[in-house]
Amino acid sequence: MRTVETIEEAVAAAAELRKNGATLALVPTMGNLHQGHLTLVREARKLADHTAVSIFVNPLQFNNREDLRTYPRTPEADLALLEAEGADLVFLPRPEIMYPQGLESHTTVFVPGLSDMLEGALRPGHFRGVTTVVCKLFNIFRPDCAMFGLKDFQQVAVLKKMVRDMCLGVRIVEVPIVRDEGGLALSSRNGLLSEEEKIRARKISQRMFAVRDAILAGRRDYDALAAEAAADLNQVEGFATDSVDIVNADTLEKAAPDTRRVAVLMAVKVGPTRLIDSVAFDL
Ligand code: PAJ
Repeated sequence: MRTVETIEEAVAAAAELRKNGATLALVPTMGNLHQGHLTLVREARKLADHTAVSIFVNPLQFNNREDLRTYPRTPEADLALLEAEGADLVFLPRPEIMYPQGLESHTTVFVPGLSDMLEGALRPGHFRGVTTVVCKLFNIFRPDCAMFGLKDFQQVAVLKKMVRDMCLGVRIVEVPIVRDEGGLALSSRNGLLSEEEKIRARKISQRMFAVRDAILAGRRDYDALAAEAAADLNQVEGFATDSVDIVNADTLEKAAPDTRRVAVLMAVKVGPTRLIDSVAFDL
């Protein structure tokens, strides 16, 4: 496994891996890797001849300085895990490498509509940061495919539109959410929870699956259903629910009674830690 830190080295190493028509899969991450990320690496290895992973806590997608400052960084452990998974190339740039003139003057890529709704409305600038860094990574690696987790449901929708609109020619592969034995979606942010909070946080996916089951059983009063779930999480569990959205899984617009593919998206604060989860299904 080769580790590189500059764009020039990454460009050359990726080109080397793509030599003679070999295919390359890219797994973009912000590090602090867990089984969710490693599942993406395993899928990448199945789909392509070679696998590259990027580890970069992208400052452009954080709209909260404290969140950026406290984001867990564990590069040594990450590299050991990636080596064990059989990744071929790891790109670990410092922010000055990706944004040499700072964040303000860097060219950005913006997907209108999808970037401004839901999570985008709560975290202004977040998706512009994501699309900008992912576009840059695609241009550095020129991968055949790139793996993304459905944990970040809206992120996948935004990136698919970017690829389509900008003819980037990278296949976006969607990977299901990996959960712990209590059903909590694995996340780097789970490390910020106390053991007691981690157990209570199981209620988030339990409540989310209960909403899904209620819809599958015939409920279509989506506003009331979402409000009940939020009230329950807040009053019974003492969480601060940022949002519970029941949407059309393709457009991310509010689901209507005749929507055929539905997604339930949740963002919940457990103490100061903001967790997200989602589930999509057909009616
Ligand atoms: P990060 O949060 O590190 O996630 C990297 C990838 O791992 C994302 O595609 C995410 O959806 C996936 N992932 C995280 N937890 C998962 C889980 N429990 N199950 C399945 N997949 C999971 O998402 C980002 O980084 C950044 O926005 C990035 C795309 C790297 C751009 O900076």
